[in-house]
Amino acid sequence: MYSEKVMDHFEHPRNVGEIENASGTGTVGNPKCGDIMRIYLDIDENQVIRDCKFKTYGCGAAVATSSMATEMVKGKTIQEAMKVTNKAVAEALDGLPPVKMHCSLLAEEAIHAALWDYAKKNGITIEGLSEPKDNIDEEDEEEY
Ligand code: FES
Repeated sequence: MYSEKVMDHFEHPRNVGEIENASGTGTVGNPKCGDIMRIYLDIDENQVIRDCKFKTYGCGAAVATSSMATEMVKGKTIQEAMKVTNKAVAEALDGLPPVKMHCSLLAEEAIHAALWDYAKKNGITIEGLSEPKDNIDEEDEEEY
């Protein structure tokens, strides 16, 4: 049911942990299952993501997608990081079972929430980024 890449990231998740004095942090919940995800971003003066860590109370698919998503945003500018969508992450993992697509939303939404926190702290606007909700909107899932 899961691809080898999903199993690899689930068994050996990358970037688990927290960043002290992070440039931005974001926490989101998934109303479908009640799981929670927190992302920490360390962003340098050129708006490049130097480091990214995560913590989750999510399922295996949430762990694997966050692990992959954190790998994908590292070294990217904040604008490029906006393009790391849950779809792009699921594709990089060679797919997720349809019932698990909602889990991949946690990583994307938590990254957006952390970017929002960073933008707010620095008084900047990030194109395409809107204020995060406490809980992921169910509507987002209907695309799948
Ligand atoms: Fe909750 Fe996957 S079942 S994040």
